[in-house]
Amino acid sequence: MTAVIELRDIMKTYIMGDSVVHALDHVFVQIGRGEFTSIMGPSGSGKSTMMNILGCLDRPTSGEYYLDGKEIAGYDDDELAHTRNAKIGFVFQNFNLLPKLTAQANVALPLIYAGVDEEERMERAKKALEAVGLGERIEHKPTEMSGGQRQRVAIARALVNNPAIIMADEPTGNLDTKSSYEIMDIFKAMNASGKTVVMVTHEPDIAEQTKRILVMRDGKIVSDEWR
Ligand SMILES: Nc1ncnc2c1ncn2[C@@H]1O[C@H](COP(=O)(O)OP(=O)(O)O)[C@@H](O)[C@H]1O
Ligand SMILES: [Mg+2]
Repeated sequence: MTAVIELRDIMKTYIMGDSVVHALDHVFVQIGRGEFTSIMGPSGSGKSTMMNILGCLDRPTSGEYYLDGKEIAGYDDDELAHTRNAKIGFVFQNFNLLPKLTAQANVALPLIYAGVDEEERMERAKKALEAVGLGERIEHKPTEMSGGQRQRVAIARALVNNPAIIMADEPTGNLDTKSSYEIMDIFKAMNASGKTVVMVTHEPDIAEQTKRILVMRDGKIVSDEWR
């Protein structure tokens, strides 16, 4: 297995007054290229902290993070942002779309930071929206869409840079069952096309649709089950 992600002895520690919280407590894990992994665990167990570090949105207090074989735990903000742009698409529970922009403009945003010219940005955004079944709605604003449609826009935005890795923190957490399963079908199709997918969920029927389930408790991985 070629590990695209490897965490070695990762700690994330928060100090609040005189209490110390180990949000991640000696985490070791390897994730191979093309895996489809879900992370489960009770509220407060460290799932979001883990996803934010994996997704280069945050850095650990100590330990090593190898992404594509490169150690990035010590990267500064610019280096992390650059790495994230090049390799990772991140999907949030609350979609994080800009309400005043059309779906197409929302999806095109990451391409501005990547230095792509406007015509190509709009063309690639349109293609990404077509890939998630929203080709007819590229001019709609998030406020004119259902939750499931908004999350598909957010997935299109995560895909528009053609990242090798997709990460999602409770992407179906705000959706009804039917929309959740539609979103899972998109993640499955992305994984079938070769992308590595890592997602947090607290819903067993969602986790069961992935190939590997990691369970966290008190900042530690307490179970690692292949399916
Ligand atoms: N910015 C922060 N400051 C202080 N404590 C935090 C912060 N973020 C998370 N924590 C704490 O770290 C632990 C793990 O949180 P989190 O990763 O959000 O868990 P989960 O996503 O599994 O609910 C919790 O005890 C939480 O209160
Ligand atoms: Mg969380």
